[in-house]
Amino acid sequence: MSSRQVSRLLKFPLCRPHINRNPRLLHTNAAPGRSQGVRPLLIGALVGAGVYCTHKIVQKRRSSADIPLSPWLLANTVSAASPPASQPSVWSQGKDHAVYLWIHLNPDTNVREAARVVAKLQTYIDKVSDPSLRDEEDEIWAGVGFGPNFYKQVGGKVTKSFCYPHRKGPLGEMPSTGGDIFIHAKCNTVSKLFELVQVVMKNMPAGSVKSFEDVYSFVYRNGRDLSGFIDGTENPADDEHRQAVAVEKETGGSYVITQKWIHNHQVINCEKDKVQEGWVGRDKPDSIELKRKSISSHVARMTGGTALNQDAPFEIVRQSMPYGTLSKESGLFFIAYAASPENFEYMLDRMVGARDDGHSDDIMRLSKNVTGTYWYFPGVAELKKLE
Ligand code: HEM
Repeated sequence: MSSRQVSRLLKFPLCRPHINRNPRLLHTNAAPGRSQGVRPLLIGALVGAGVYCTHKIVQKRRSSADIPLSPWLLANTVSAASPPASQPSVWSQGKDHAVYLWIHLNPDTNVREAARVVAKLQTYIDKVSDPSLRDEEDEIWAGVGFGPNFYKQVGGKVTKSFCYPHRKGPLGEMPSTGGDIFIHAKCNTVSKLFELVQVVMKNMPAGSVKSFEDVYSFVYRNGRDLSGFIDGTENPADDEHRQAVAVEKETGGSYVITQKWIHNHQVINCEKDKVQEGWVGRDKPDSIELKRKSISSHVARMTGGTALNQDAPFEIVRQSMPYGTLSKESGLFFIAYAASPENFEYMLDRMVGARDDGHSDDIMRLSKNVTGTYWYFPGVAELKKLE
């Protein structure tokens, strides 16, 4: 029985709207507090023979100042029997802001040197947000990922290949724009994210960066996309579920898709809501799934069919957020984590009409995809080897 069916039988929603975005504002989550910063790491770390040792450290640290734990500390204290820990960005919940830092390196860069810099991400976070002082407002949950060529060059090993092909369909393209290093960091204070990017970029080896883009995102109307639709209704919500979907068990690594979408506000403002609801397959005010929906609606493309509560063959952990300005460009920075790139392949193919029935996704009528690629976010232990 699938998790969706189980959830229906138990009569509670598998995924509550908004909740991944901003528990603090929505008052729907368990009591928020500083300890939220350590939950994603704790669950992985407390399994197996390392329980006692880790527990003692956790107790000591938390009772002294209730300080979020460094993932590196936890990774180093669990025993070999524990599943490998993943980086903090991978399945943790959302915060008020995120930054997406996309770096392209020059061809003659010393890749090992560049990898050594970003593998120390936690050190930069500690610089920007002092571990002895930080709280829920300025703690940062982050992770770093690598493009396939870069990761191969630095000797990284993956169990699945993750090459992102250029896709094209009747409603638009999904260009493959590549990249070498990607950082995803989440924080309630956006200036901390800006500071983090400043520190990382300052430490990159001289002359190594060909180009980079840092996109700062925000929670819009309690978790809506800029089109007005609630985004995240069917996203895995519970930590355990998110971890199971996002993390490769053997390595603690995660495969990640990033895509920048620019919304067409002209279309969003002028097209009737009923029409747009047909494109998405859910209503705008409450994200109620339409009983009758088109095969080209976004929900039908993603789940594989038009039935109500259709069981999807693949799941991903979406952490996308709105970004941008009205005067220039704005839209959705799409980012999702999965234990295998296969999950994204299915969805992207079905969006551009390259699989099964050949239909493409009506969501592409209100937004244009301009960049995209896949990354591998190594597990904490794998990342440490790059230092
Ligand atoms: C402009 C780009 C996009 C927008 C505005 C958008 C918006 C939405 C909205 C409003 C929903 C319905 C509510 C929800 O369950 O979250 C949704 C669902 C979903 N989207 Fe997207 N999306 C975009 C791109 C993508 C891409 C590129 C993927 C996959 C690679 C994707 C995967 C999904 C999945 C898996 C669901 C859940 C479907 C279900 O189980 O009902 N979306 N999206």
